[in-house]
Amino acid sequence: MGTPEGRGPEPPQGGPFFTLAEVAKRSTKEETWLVIRGRVYDVTRFLDEHPGGEEVLLEQAGRDATESFDDVGHSMDAKEMLKQYLIGEVHPSDQKPDTSKPEQLLFWTVWLIPIVGALVLGLMYRFYIMDGKSS
Ligand code: HEM
Repeated sequence: MGTPEGRGPEPPQGGPFFTLAEVAKRSTKEETWLVIRGRVYDVTRFLDEHPGGEEVLLEQAGRDATESFDDVGHSMDAKEMLKQYLIGEVHPSDQKPDTSKPEQLLFWTVWLIPIVGALVLGLMYRFYIMDGKSS
């Protein structure tokens, strides 16, 4: 009650932040919030308008709906519409830290390719050029 909930069309820049516990409290028809890609959306006034129906939104209410949102294969228009309902971001302490693994893998693959390449070239040099010189 009485908290500014971003009713205007302007999305907030870099906050306000909400914890997942705060989002979880808004899982009713009276107040429907959901999280998509770390951002918090208030879809209460969108329930009646959602082409996919209010039930699917209420099912995801109060939690991370990223997967469900992506699974439907929403159009660009739908992704644009998201902005209208943006009210903030998930608090950094509640953001999922699971992106570090693929990044690490990428880091090693990026370095492994030139290292292996250099080794192969070095060996080729040794066997072909050095061999030619000694004989
Ligand atoms: C603020 C969040 C959302 C917005 C702005 C939104 C918007 C839309 C729009 C514009 C459509 C029409 C088709 C299209 O343009 O892609 C649609 C369809 C649909 N949406 Fe959403 N949606 C949201 C969240 C969700 C969530 C969380 C679910 C969960 C499953 C969902 C499920 C569906 C389904 C099942 C359809 C019907 C698809 C069909 O009939 O082909 N939507 N949505």
